[in-house]
Amino acid sequence: MDLDAEKQKKLKKLVNLVNRSEISSIKSIVSGVVRIINDPKSSIWDLKEMVEIDPPLTAKVLRVANSVYYSPPQKIGEIKQALIWIGFDTLKEMALSQKVAGIFNENDSINGHSIHSLWKHSVAVALLTKMIYRREFRKRGANAYVAGLLHDIGIIVESQFLQNDFSLVLSKAKHEKKNLSEAEQEVLGLHHADIGMAIAENWNLPQELVTAIGYHDSPLEAEQEFSKLASTLYIAEDCSQNSSIGYSEAPFRNNEVFDKCLTELNIDPHALDLIVADAKRELNEMEEQGLF
Ligand SMILES: [Fe+2]
Ligand SMILES: [Fe+2]
Repeated sequence: MDLDAEKQKKLKKLVNLVNRSEISSIKSIVSGVVRIINDPKSSIWDLKEMVEIDPPLTAKVLRVANSVYYSPPQKIGEIKQALIWIGFDTLKEMALSQKVAGIFNENDSINGHSIHSLWKHSVAVALLTKMIYRREFRKRGANAYVAGLLHDIGIIVESQFLQNDFSLVLSKAKHEKKNLSEAEQEVLGLHHADIGMAIAENWNLPQELVTAIGYHDSPLEAEQEFSKLASTLYIAEDCSQNSSIGYSEAPFRNNEVFDKCLTELNIDPHALDLIVADAKRELNEMEEQGLF
């Protein structure tokens, strides 16, 4: 079997395992929210209905909406009230974060790798990707937040279904001073980005998201049509590594790729410092809301 066929076989097997596991519990909310934000015909009330049919999610959203942080004038007991009080964008992000957080809930740390800091990293990248999109391109970047939250879903899959190999990957990265992707390539013959892309494809997420997740480590190879989000994700990832927010999967920066992304997107590096400072403030606020 040639290398590519072997890789595809491995990916198919992993996607099947994911679809039979707890990880797939986020599928309906993620696809639902993504559909709502990408479909101009859908209304904000579709979001309300989607959250309401998921009792644990409803409970979590109501808990956050009633927290000291949001201090509603009276107790919020329904998703409709939460939607009015905190707004569509916040509710959308809250629903996604609360749901996706559920698959990052392991406390164990393997070879110094902690799933909890991977979660913090994913939220940081989600915030940074969204902020860069809005400030630099003056566009909403509908899929930016979701892309950030899910970009490293492949690492979760490796830690759950390929434990021995993953342990080897981590020790290789640590002792041979390599970025995670390089160590993965040597041990597994594929990257966590490949796994994430296979899942996003299997879940029928929009092509922009599939590409961003699949090429978050190699944005210059992404299809031109969707490369903007992949490049933004790369820059956001680098900013989060540099400011040591959460987990660090690529401590050795590829300056050439980074600079090419900045040029392609026409981003001033100084603007990034301001965005990082704001993202850190927002992350602290999310911590106060009990999201970590
Ligand atoms: Fe990452
Ligand atoms: Fe990654």
